[in-house]
Amino acid sequence: MRNLRPGCRIVVLSGAGVSKESGLATFRENNGLWEEHDVYEVATPEAWNRDPEVVQRFYNARRKQLLEVFPNDAHKYLAKLEEVFEVVVVTQNVDDLHERGGSSNVVHLHGELRKSRSTLDESLVYDVDGWEVTMEERCEKGGVLRPHVVWFGEMVPMIEAAASIVRSADLLLVVGTSLSVYPAAGLLHEASSDVPVILIDPGELNTSGLRNVHHIREKATVGVKNLVLKMLEYQKDG
Ligand code: OAD
Repeated sequence: MRNLRPGCRIVVLSGAGVSKESGLATFRENNGLWEEHDVYEVATPEAWNRDPEVVQRFYNARRKQLLEVFPNDAHKYLAKLEEVFEVVVVTQNVDDLHERGGSSNVVHLHGELRKSRSTLDESLVYDVDGWEVTMEERCEKGGVLRPHVVWFGEMVPMIEAAASIVRSADLLLVVGTSLSVYPAAGLLHEASSDVPVILIDPGELNTSGLRNVHHIREKATVGVKNLVLKMLEYQKDG
């Protein structure tokens, strides 16, 4: 870490854990979203075809909750890294807490909760004003609007762009993800094997096949803050 020079490229891979201390539930832990909701009822194309209202209601509730929470220290300190380094955040999260925390370069692998998309023409993407999208709302071509998120069974359109970003990393910082959903979890293996990988996550993670890994078993707010302060301090000390 001491070898990192100003302008080095840090790629952050984040997951639900980074937003947990803001008050948003993760997916796979006790009381996680996928314990309370059946993923096949709310987050698949089949669910949408069967009962779009149920799906719309699920994402409306997520969006309503998102408007009530704020970025935490993990989001804010990740943004602070931009003072010295070139930083790209590749997130699996559909929330906008990295952006609201000050990060200026965020790639959303699984889409964005605060946007909706035409079911007739996927190039038509709209900002959602407030939290609610109704089944009566239409795109300019007359199509129903669906959440602008990636559902299980769908392609991840940003995966190639994300892989190329990871390949350009001088340091990978992985925060708050169980690394259990592909293709996102496979991104770690895109980095060259001499690139240091720092994981910040209080849980157990499967890091087999990775070299040069350092796991900080802390919550995101504590782990990210301490690490970023240390990295910025090293830069001052030259
Ligand atoms: P998971 O719920 O699978 O994992 C959350 C991770 O956050 C776990 O590794 C926890 O140990 C960790 N964690 C818990 N509290 C934390 C804290 N305070 N600070 C830091 N880490 C903490 O969530 P993801 O890995 O993000 O996809 O899940 C990936 C994808 O699965 C999501 O994007 C979503 C979901 O199904 C779609 O909806 C397509």
